[in-house]
Amino acid sequence: MNVFIAGGTSGIGYSLARHYLSKGYCVGVCGRDPAKITDSHFETLQVFQTDVCEMSSVLSTLKSFLVDKDQLDIFINCAGSYAEDVAGKISYEEAEEMLQTNILGTVNCFEAARKAMKKQKSGNIAVIASVSGIMNYENSSLYTKSKRSVIQIADAYRRALKPFGISVTTIAPGYVDTEKLRKLNQNDLSKKPFLTNLETAVSIITKAIEDKEKLIIFPAKMKWMMKSLSLLPSSLLNIIMFRKAKWMKND
Ligand SMILES: NC(=O)c1ccc[n+]([C@@H]2O[C@H](COP(=O)([O-])OP(=O)(O)OC[C@H]3O[C@@H](n4cnc5c(N)ncnc54)[C@H](OP(=O)(O)O)[C@@H]3O)[C@@H](O)[C@H]2O)c1
Repeated sequence: MNVFIAGGTSGIGYSLARHYLSKGYCVGVCGRDPAKITDSHFETLQVFQTDVCEMSSVLSTLKSFLVDKDQLDIFINCAGSYAEDVAGKISYEEAEEMLQTNILGTVNCFEAARKAMKKQKSGNIAVIASVSGIMNYENSSLYTKSKRSVIQIADAYRRALKPFGISVTTIAPGYVDTEKLRKLNQNDLSKKPFLTNLETAVSIITKAIEDKEKLIIFPAKMKWMMKSLSLLPSSLLNIIMFRKAKWMKND
């Protein structure tokens, strides 16, 4: 099996890469900073320097990865940008990076994977959105709105790629204990409800891909909390989510 992971130089993406390598699969990862991968246990891992916001770069990377392979079985897009804040409080540079990576990067990854898989008439493309993106409320953060767009983009590609035998799996995780999440929260994740460890996240994500699920939301407690909140009138939901955000930031 040949697996390519965009945004695989750290966090969820790198843990997925390790999982697939341990199964004997051929695995390639990319990120802007390949030097982030310091452990040398996985000599077979193919690492590429690529910015998902540049289409030509994603295309040429995937071409290089596939040069000695007959097909691409799984493409996972884990590349994402997040900052713990609402629009207006993050800088223009942070907002630009978030929107470019989460939206344009998602489209670029779908396009590159689709081109590689179309002739073979099989394959699975997965993308990491966020549980926050399943709720639609006025005051959600720019990050949440960008991840809601990821879910919608994946829906559009799922419909378009079905006739070519290509399945699309959208992953909507709650909080996952990664270095990035810790760094953003000064290493204090005590206010992150239903935190999932990386091992559990990898096992849920890989099973969803194997089962060709359309959408997987985890952990279950977070899924049902979000689904219940979605039933509330939007004015009440706005107040609850605003208070939750303030509590999490000790404002
Ligand atoms: N951790 C959570 O609680 C959580 C919850 C829900 C959803 N998610 C989503 O899960 C994904 C992974 O998050 P994580 O916590 O594992 O964070 P992470 O360790 O920062 O992983 C993000 C990955 O994306 C890569 N990346 C970022 N911008 C890129 C770009 N323009 N081009 C290519 N690669 C890029 C990063 O590598 P480089 O720095 O080398 O570019 C890194 O490999 C993100 O999409 C995030 O939104 C995370």
